[in-house]
Amino acid sequence: MTSYEAHFKVWRGDPQGGGLEDFSVEVHDGEVVLDIIHRLQATQAPDLAVRWNCKAGKCGSCSAEVNGRPRLMCMTRMSVFTRDETVTVTPLRAFPVVRDLVTDVSYNYAKAREIPSFVPPPGVAAGDYRMQQVDVDRSQEFRKCIECFLCQDTCHVVRDHEENKTSFAGPRFLMRVAELDMHPLDAAAGSGVDRKRAAQEEHGLGYCNITKCCTEVCPEQIKITDNALIPLKERAVDRKYDPLVWLGSRIRRRGSTD
Ligand code: SF4
Ligand code: SF4
Ligand code: FES
Repeated sequence: MTSYEAHFKVWRGDPQGGGLEDFSVEVHDGEVVLDIIHRLQATQAPDLAVRWNCKAGKCGSCSAEVNGRPRLMCMTRMSVFTRDETVTVTPLRAFPVVRDLVTDVSYNYAKAREIPSFVPPPGVAAGDYRMQQVDVDRSQEFRKCIECFLCQDTCHVVRDHEENKTSFAGPRFLMRVAELDMHPLDAAAGSGVDRKRAAQEEHGLGYCNITKCCTEVCPEQIKITDNALIPLKERAVDRKYDPLVWLGSRIRRRGSTD
């Protein structure tokens, strides 16, 4: 086994402020950034705060920014850096710092709660649901999400604009709206939930200018922009300019004022 000394800069601090701290630390063959952070905890900085759980790219909790790019620390191999390269690890920038590398991601949970869940079709018993395989496959892609929130962190709509957080759900949750809106068995419309209107008016779909930055950082390689956000935009616009839908809404509106 070969090993070498790497130069790390790690952000230390709390909501009042902080800065980068320098470390020289041993790296062994096959290690990932999270191994090095653990070695720092074990040997030089026992109070270094970091969130992690599975060390297998599945729990979504070790998200941080490595050399400025949102990444899972447990899935970032040290071999992607040259031996003389300084590796800088900082907390996710779009969310408030709790301490060191740990951020408060509750914005995401608040956004999740704003989306009405799947409404089962009336008159069909659980277990009797039937769908085309193509519809199953579409949902399966979105369901690979591990809620690491790297896409939420990288999206420029909130990354540098805290004020947009109230009106923008972010790519992960717009993808959830898209999944439900495209679900052939979702009966939300029958219970008065208009997912397309909500996407535009409540979840800020119009803020997304399809830069695809969210797709680029997704560790599950979900095509967030191409398969969820762009189709959702097309469906929302189709509806707005569909003459039958337009006529129906005019008649309904007139009926309500008569
Ligand atoms: S494609 Fe849309 S949601 Fe994704 S990063 Fe760009 S603006 Fe944000
Ligand atoms: S869509 Fe991808 S990047 Fe976004 S939270 Fe899910 S797994 Fe993470
Ligand atoms: S520790 Fe679970 S995804 Fe990294």
